[in-house]
Amino acid sequence: MKVVITGGAGFIGSNAAARHLARGNEVVILDNLSRKGAQNNVTWLKSFGGDLRLIQADVRDAGAVAGAFREAADAEVVLHLAGQVAVTTSVLNPRDDFESNALGTFNVLEAARTLPRLRAFLFASTNKVYGGMEDVGIVERGGRYAYASLPEGVDENQQLDFHSPYGCCYAADTDILTRSGWKRFYELGPDDDVLTYSLERKTAEFQRPTAHFAFPYTGKMYVQTNRRLKTCVTPNHKMLVAWDCTHWALERPRLAEAQQIAGKPMAYLLAAEVEGGIDRDSFTLPGGKAGKHKHRFQDRAIPMDDWLRFLGWYLAEGHCYQNAKTGNCSVTLTTRYRTAEAVAVMRAVGLSPCVYRHHVTATSRRLYEYLRPFGKSYQKYIPQEVKDLSPARLRVLLIALLDGDGNVQSKNSWRYTTVSRRLADDVQEIALKCGMAASIAQDREGFYRVSICTTRTAQCNLDRDRSEWVDYSGMVYCVEVPNSVVMVRQNGHAYFSGNSKGAADQYTVDYARIYGLPTVTMRQSAIYGPRQLGVEDQGWVAWFCIAAALGRRITIYGDGMQVRDVLWVDDLLDAYDRAIGAIDRVRGQVFNLGGGPDNTLAIRDVIRILEERLGRPLGPHFDAWRPGDQRVFIAGIGKAKRELGWAPRVGPAEGVDRLLEWVQANRELFADLYG
Ligand SMILES: NC(=O)c1ccc[n+]([C@@H]2O[C@H](COP(=O)([O-])OP(=O)(O)OC[C@H]3O[C@@H](n4cnc5c(N)ncnc54)[C@H](O)[C@@H]3O)[C@@H](O)[C@H]2O)c1
Repeated sequence: MKVVITGGAGFIGSNAAARHLARGNEVVILDNLSRKGAQNNVTWLKSFGGDLRLIQADVRDAGAVAGAFREAADAEVVLHLAGQVAVTTSVLNPRDDFESNALGTFNVLEAARTLPRLRAFLFASTNKVYGGMEDVGIVERGGRYAYASLPEGVDENQQLDFHSPYGCCYAADTDILTRSGWKRFYELGPDDDVLTYSLERKTAEFQRPTAHFAFPYTGKMYVQTNRRLKTCVTPNHKMLVAWDCTHWALERPRLAEAQQIAGKPMAYLLAAEVEGGIDRDSFTLPGGKAGKHKHRFQDRAIPMDDWLRFLGWYLAEGHCYQNAKTGNCSVTLTTRYRTAEAVAVMRAVGLSPCVYRHHVTATSRRLYEYLRPFGKSYQKYIPQEVKDLSPARLRVLLIALLDGDGNVQSKNSWRYTTVSRRLADDVQEIALKCGMAASIAQDREGFYRVSICTTRTAQCNLDRDRSEWVDYSGMVYCVEVPNSVVMVRQNGHAYFSGNSKGAADQYTVDYARIYGLPTVTMRQSAIYGPRQLGVEDQGWVAWFCIAAALGRRITIYGDGMQVRDVLWVDDLLDAYDRAIGAIDRVRGQVFNLGGGPDNTLAIRDVIRILEERLGRPLGPHFDAWRPGDQRVFIAGIGKAKRELGWAPRVGPAEGVDRLLEWVQANRELFADLYG
């Protein structure tokens, strides 16, 4: 049998050629030898002494391809493997990529039509046809990226349209409210609970996200501006809105895509009654040793509301001080007009204050020790144990804070001013937990102003359209929560809004290219094995083995948690054989061929395996993500298993061992090629 292998001097091609030569088949290689090391592979193949012919031609040249196929007119099998292989190169030079892959394939298909005895035409496609799969959620599990909900990997029904609707997402500068305060989405840890809104109960509660999503996104973002709101979300982000734009209409809020409601009058939900929180009656002021004296103070219980009133005053107007000479510790509240109230607040927590001008001062080492960590005015914050209290308790604190550093804006709105960014965040958080709308802005003098309002909705676009579409290029983020709505903050404005649609179950109709030929398209994952002259931007498993064996510097682009399913080259060629054997049944079909979920490797895994085998650290260098880098790809190979009766046999650890062994046995090859 005669087999034509385009790209036969490459990694997969030379392995395929060697297999067919070993079976006594005639092999015709069509290759332009553009790949570094291709000539070495041809020399190696020639050493078999079989019926091998090399036609040096470029698949972009239709005439040359037609001529080559005329010379191999009795071929029965064509393996079309020639092409530009690196994603990075395709981004840098898309025309070249298009010509060698798309036009090249077209030329080879056209030429193959002229083959009268053709039985099977196998095309080595790639999992890259599935694009960035922005609709597929990615999570981080145990230091590796993984799909949020595709345990079997990506199957052949994954749509090929790279511009599919994106997940429901927020710009990178969006904060989300967790139990321990505001965090950027990308700072969320697996144990962070976030504030969500129940559409059934109309109340807010903390829930643990079921998935975290992060996608690279380039395109338009919807920005809705209002005095109390500024959003920045992807077009299909689900906003929580009421259509008739009344404050009470949010009794029945609905989730609607940003692009559906763009520019229309809408009411947004900024706050809701929050369930949960700890209801403690008293605060315990920790005891301790009293300076140089032997006496030890006991813990002291203070009624919680009295403590919160004092803390509110202290955060607004207080400072504490230790005299360097005497070691005496004091706590002072400074107030111009409300001295009597300050005295009462201090007495309520067991202090005996004296008044000097605007200062109300009491001596207390225990209180000094407790309050000192809250820092100077620009460092102040509300301790977590206080922020965890129930809304009823937090209201006491909020009123005390507003009594101190707040002023009334209208009958239902206040403004709290502080120089501490952290305290501003905390005040906004407790106001939201008290069921009030709250936003933060910084004024020209650098003061943070927290605007607090009991009106929980914001009406937008009433008099005119205050929305716009802006260009965005960067990461977008989201989480999936059981309640489907989360509390987020953009530009200091907090509001409730939809979570991600979740799983990327957005499968569309299968796509198969029918050429009128007995074609089978193999969408290959990362293939690895001997004769793979991997370089940094293609053939990463081989590159790491080669670099490690030669003591070359290894650069990891991204964080090294990227995961791929990997397939040993002989397993791939077994699948090719099966497809050729079953061609009448599988012609015109598409198969994912990869290691599947059982054979995955994270970049860090490969480094670890190599370090173990070589018995020395590799000390990889980390660099920024490159364009087109996917965090995870795992092929679903169920169809190939079912229809071809095939399964990978070589696991990743064994494969890396075998590859490293081959690299070590062929050092001279690399010394030549890698300079
Ligand atoms: N190796 C993988 O992990 C992997 C994964 C998915 C898909 N694939 C696909 O499988 C095929 C083979 O991959 P490989 O890893 O063996 O790559 P390779 O680079 O080792 O082999 C490709 C061969 O094609 C030749 N070639 C490139 N452009 C050509 C052109 N215009 N005309 C003629 N010959 C040309 C090169 O000289 C090289 O010998 C490629 O199409 C690749 O996209 C490979």
